[in-house]
Amino acid sequence: MRLVVVHPDKEVLAQAAAARLLTRVLDVQSVRSPVHVVLTGGSVGIATLAAVAASPLVPAVDWSGVHLWWGDERFLPDGDPDRNETQAREALLDGLVAEHGLPAANVHPMPGPTSVATPEEGAAAYAELLREHAGDRPDDHPDEQSEGTVAVPAFDVLLLGMGPDGHVASLFPGHEVLAAQGTTTGVHASPKPPPERVSLTFDAIRSAREVWIIAAGAEKAEQVAAALADGPVSEVPAAGAVGQARTLWLLDAAASTTTPK
Ligand code: 6PG
Repeated sequence: MRLVVVHPDKEVLAQAAAARLLTRVLDVQSVRSPVHVVLTGGSVGIATLAAVAASPLVPAVDWSGVHLWWGDERFLPDGDPDRNETQAREALLDGLVAEHGLPAANVHPMPGPTSVATPEEGAAAYAELLREHAGDRPDDHPDEQSEGTVAVPAFDVLLLGMGPDGHVASLFPGHEVLAAQGTTTGVHASPKPPPERVSLTFDAIRSAREVWIIAAGAEKAEQVAAALADGPVSEVPAAGAVGQARTLWLLDAAASTTTPK
């Protein structure tokens, strides 16, 4: 099922996405644990995490039962301000660890040059980590046990930003990375700096229960429309980001062509 929700502006979009994310985590925790959430970088993604941090719902979540992953990462040293991880830690995660019982070990950043030599090594290490948690698929979804082809945990929510070129994670239009197999891939010659990255593949993204694509700004409108028209994934990678149970497009009015601006 696909749902498109349009908010008036980027700030409301981030607030609404944060409220929705916290509510979804609470809903899942009412029936099972752990919960697996995949984070995204980008300005809207990080604004969403900042809005989560400021929400009165934060103490309602059992953070000890939440695991946090990433859809992609820039291949930069630990602590680099351009790492999605660094930005997410500053916006939300450091506070959750310090004050709300999120175990530091439940934060699973993608490796960078501080710990591995190449994006491929980083991708392989992350694939192994995902495989180690693949057994978290719960009993209340026995159908998922039999899928067995994608060795990742059952992602409850997988957040994605979208670039003006239609890229999601580090899956860029016309790039060889679109054909990557397995669950993770190293990326070279990214059209957006830095050139080297680590990313989930389409197979890993599509294994998520829910995929939420969060996009704001008029520069995204054309590719949003193309994705919603099921344009070719080679030209609009976002069109290939589809969840098992639900794909949610969370937009601001400028990024949407379906409502008056
Ligand atoms: C990157 C960015 C990128 C980002 C989108 C949306 O990897 O270089 O993180 O993938 O998520 O371009 O970014 P905005 O929300 O800032 O438009």
